Amino acid sequence: MEVIVLPGPDDVARVAADVVAGVVRRRPGAVLGLATGSSPVGVYAELARRVAAGELDLSGVRGFALDEYVGLPAGHPESYAAVIGRDVTGRLGLDPARVHVPDGRAADLEAAAEDYEQAIAAAGGVDVQLLGIGANGHIGFNEPTSSFGSRTRLKTLAPRTRADNARFFDSPDEVPMHCLTQGLGTILGARRLLLVAQGSAKAEAVAAAVEGPLTSMCPASALQLHPRATVVVDEAAAARLTLLDHYRQVYARKPAWQRP
Ligand code: F6R
Repeated sequence: MEVIVLPGPDDVARVAADVVAGVVRRRPGAVLGLATGSSPVGVYAELARRVAAGELDLSGVRGFALDEYVGLPAGHPESYAAVIGRDVTGRLGLDPARVHVPDGRAADLEAAAEDYEQAIAAAGGVDVQLLGIGANGHIGFNEPTSSFGSRTRLKTLAPRTRADNARFFDSPDEVPMHCLTQGLGTILGARRLLLVAQGSAKAEAVAAAVEGPLTSMCPASALQLHPRATVVVDEAAAARLTLLDHYRQVYARKPAWQRP
């Protein structure tokens, strides 16, 4: 696993955007795995800036969101379909017809999950999966004890996740209990994983994911199984890592040909 420790959130956004831009430059029709929540907002903003400046063209890419709440009314501003439309598709110049979000309003959620898996497979798989991390170590909405082999399915949000996400809603009770989320097995199927984390609230989860044991109690530790996982964190999110000096040295001496 590559661990890149940078001074602050803007650096995290810039370096993560470099990785995504590098993938798209090599493959203009790349398939992007799209996280929501606050962690990737800076990355999307930086990509949007490059698109607006004419430095990057994302019009050919396809996208698959990681997850979606179940039980929100159609058009709810905090549904991930709405968030992806607002923060990603429009601002990055993606074709909305090529951007997919699990259907959290489907009458048959099991079938919707299966359809989503098939759509990802039909697109040829995800080239680069952007990820945030929950304070409890979740990725997507794969809460602790999720199977490393899991595929897209219905999950119940952990109390900690509902409390953390209450900031997006008018009241904590409004945060849905359930979601559809890509599984850890689905996520591990992406050709490249790119996890971003900022701030001290993520420090413990980042350390557990990167340096802790491989355990379903920290779903993000699944990144240790992936041959090409990059974790980009700011100083605050890196604070609990024990091999900090090593990560800094590796990144400082990274050969130019290995850069995005
Ligand atoms: C959202 C998602 C989640 C978030 C995580 C961190 O699509 O997959 O795993 O990345 O809950 O959320 P933030 O970034 O809001 O701290």
